[in-house]
Amino acid sequence: MSTLDINFVRSQFPAFSEPSLQGQAFFENAGGSYTCKPVLDRLTRYYTQRKVQPYAPYDASRLAGEEMDEARARMAAIMGVDADELSFGPSTTQNTYVLAQAFRQWMQPGDAIVVTNQDHEANSGPWRRLADEGIEVREWQIDPESGSLNPQDLEDILDEKVRLVCFPHCSNVVGEINPVTEITAIAHAAGAFVCVDGVSYAPHGFPNVGDLGPDIYLFSAYKTYGPHQGCMVIRRALGELLPNQGHYFNGDVLYQRFTPAGPDHAQIAASAGMADYVDLLCEHHDGPGTGAAARGAFVHDLMRGHEIALLQPVLDAVKDRNAARLIGTSDASRRAPTVALALNRNAESVAASLASHGVMAGGGDFYAVRPLQAMGVDLGQGVLRVSFTHYTSKREIDQLLNALDAVL
Ligand SMILES: Cc1ncc(COP(=O)(O)O)c(C=O)c1O
Repeated sequence: MSTLDINFVRSQFPAFSEPSLQGQAFFENAGGSYTCKPVLDRLTRYYTQRKVQPYAPYDASRLAGEEMDEARARMAAIMGVDADELSFGPSTTQNTYVLAQAFRQWMQPGDAIVVTNQDHEANSGPWRRLADEGIEVREWQIDPESGSLNPQDLEDILDEKVRLVCFPHCSNVVGEINPVTEITAIAHAAGAFVCVDGVSYAPHGFPNVGDLGPDIYLFSAYKTYGPHQGCMVIRRALGELLPNQGHYFNGDVLYQRFTPAGPDHAQIAASAGMADYVDLLCEHHDGPGTGAAARGAFVHDLMRGHEIALLQPVLDAVKDRNAARLIGTSDASRRAPTVALALNRNAESVAASLASHGVMAGGGDFYAVRPLQAMGVDLGQGVLRVSFTHYTSKREIDQLLNALDAVL
């Protein structure tokens, strides 16, 4: 497998040559990533050349509409699904609220759903509110020490009443990658649909959702080097079954059924830049010439390889410290490079100390209140979270490790 050319990667992100950011090592990527150049270029082009109502028969408008369609088609192809199975909404949280509304109408009192206490609130709270409608909400619980979800525990709470199982591809504080295919197979065998929050996973390589198998897969483009959009794969069978949440006359178009508002045209168009970026990385590293899904898989593995190599020393450096409790596994190959540490003091003030060492990180609960609570973390202190991606360099990791030595 080829190794990632980090200099090439960084040349694709204007933030790395931005004078005001020099010397600042960015470790809050799980909150939102830097934006890649192809996305910025498309956004600028849209706003300067195509900022008109799309899909009308004059050139600027035709090009605007074509670029929006291109974004959907190319991103869907990378993820192994049909173009109309991908839709864009304002954020993942808003997307789950719309989806929960659709399930609210489709489900009957006495039906059940499964949620976890590992999820970010976005894939938890909207579903739990279905209890107001007489839907039974069952919680698939993490191990309070490791933060892991055990698929066997899911099997134990499934029965014919369960219509939907919601869980994260990986949590934004625990970081462990859940076996989506295995869990999906268990849920499907019990007759339930599956909704996966991929927000914390997708920045580390777009997954092939078609192969993974869930019925819904959500991620946020502002964390995958793109614009501020929530991206939502809804497989056709489920999308056609759930009641339309958009205007009644748009109900025949799958990608409009769960996005009631007029979308952000420029940002959708600019999302094609994420596909450009995948192609650029693939080409530069001599990856497959054809097949969007194959190129996506190649780039996914390239990113993961780089991240795992950089992550293991970070985990080794923090796992046995008295002053810090590492949340989640210390095996880099099993987790995303999103590392939360519970400290015996306020995490936000430690993040402030890191800032004086040129390390940009955050402290708090990151809307992962339930998992932190379940793991016995003092929410008043919160956790320090350092998160990186494939564009992070070895030098920045060294800067982080030195800074952690100084402040912990
Ligand atoms: C794992 C996870 N899920 C969901 C969300 C919510 O995404 P959005 O900000 O697009 O609503 C976040 C945001 O941080 C997240 O980390």
